[in-house]
Amino acid sequence: MIEGKDSAPGVKSLTCGMIGGGQGAFIGDVHRKAVAMDRGAVLSAGCFSQDADNTLRTGLLLGLDRDRLYRTYGDLLEGEAKREDRIDFVIIVTPNHTHFPIAELALQKGFHVVCDKPLTTDSREAQKLADMSREKDLLFCVTYAYAGYPMVKHIRDIIARGDLGEIRFVQAEYPQDWLATPLEKTGQKQSLWRTDPARAGLSNCVGDIGSHIENMVTVMTGLSIHSLCARLDIFGEDRVLDDNASILVNYEGGAKGLYWSSQIAVGNDNGFRVRIFGTRASVDWNQEQPNYCRMGFIDKPTEILSRGRDDLTPSAARYIRIPSGHPEGYYEAFANIYATFTGALAKKKAGEPLCAADLDFPDVDEGVRGVRYIEKCVESSKKGSVWVELTGKK
Ligand SMILES: NC(=O)c1ccc[n+]([C@@H]2O[C@H](COP(=O)([O-])OP(=O)(O)OC[C@H]3O[C@@H](n4cnc5c(N)ncnc54)[C@H](O)[C@@H]3O)[C@@H](O)[C@H]2O)c1
Repeated sequence: MIEGKDSAPGVKSLTCGMIGGGQGAFIGDVHRKAVAMDRGAVLSAGCFSQDADNTLRTGLLLGLDRDRLYRTYGDLLEGEAKREDRIDFVIIVTPNHTHFPIAELALQKGFHVVCDKPLTTDSREAQKLADMSREKDLLFCVTYAYAGYPMVKHIRDIIARGDLGEIRFVQAEYPQDWLATPLEKTGQKQSLWRTDPARAGLSNCVGDIGSHIENMVTVMTGLSIHSLCARLDIFGEDRVLDDNASILVNYEGGAKGLYWSSQIAVGNDNGFRVRIFGTRASVDWNQEQPNYCRMGFIDKPTEILSRGRDDLTPSAARYIRIPSGHPEGYYEAFANIYATFTGALAKKKAGEPLCAADLDFPDVDEGVRGVRYIEKCVESSKKGSVWVELTGKK
């Protein structure tokens, strides 16, 4: 179908501040482009780095006022809390170990929060953030960005309405090869902290990309993991954290799964793929071709669904921006999450009630579940790849 569509109307009254994402960083700039895409909020304050010069350079380049560029995240949260035109929410895009103290202070100061995954490096801390955000009635989004693709929402909806029959088996993989060589020994910024347990947490590979598998499969299928058996491997010389992981999963209700994530899979860029097999049909979705989904059926020919051409469910179609054949990708998926989050926040600020569709972004409870999953994978592997139960609290 050839039909244009305006972006979401935008809510120019919202403002945000960013912690992390200075020059040389990876994901902060993606967040900035994503939040700006639908004009959901204006970036008005920043502490982009521990290096104040970097914060100044980054902030001035972005056109921010000097008096809203802060030396530390504490200064930003304290300083903004005192302003009449204080920011509405904080975006946290720093390495994993800093998420908890920053998010905790942000909530204490009454800011809504968008934090990147994994939410924290300890599930008790993650639960504390969930409890605090609830007590203080503050919105909290955890940017499992792939959940923002229209095709992912469509798959979620058709599985929920029973199109696949009963889910029997899930196979999900996330192979990359960027750590196939000892990149961290060259001083490369992103590899340095991801291979350091003090900054990455208990796991590198499962924490960094295996966590996306856990979230995506849960979102798509609605299944809860009952127990898992994990083997976390270290192939890189002198590494102390995993760079490859194989995980068997038992879901509540009897379905089974197999997850593989790797940073040493030579020849792979970002090959995140999920295949879900039901009693009547299956789906096959690949992040590198996110506009399409292959569906197989027990009783009719295979179909390739196309975003923009074929009918998607209403809650998926609402996120389609451009006609079919014009690829939408990572930025748009990220922006979809921001459009939903800022839309919900604008309604909340206006005192309007929020419905389930308003809250269709990855929330703090998903963040907590993700951290518990990482911990259980590490526990299973350390005990010799034994089965461990995931259900219940730590
Ligand atoms: N959702 C996704 O798909 C996705 C993708 C990539 C990264 N991430 C997550 O985003 C986070 C950042 O990853 P990255 O690859 O951008 O890291 P990065 O190393 O490229 O950037 C981190 C930034 O945080 C800054 N920083 C560190 N400590 C700080 C502090 N105390 N105060 C202010 N700034 C500080 C650094 O100076 C740097 O600018 C990680 O938690 C990572 O897991 C998520």
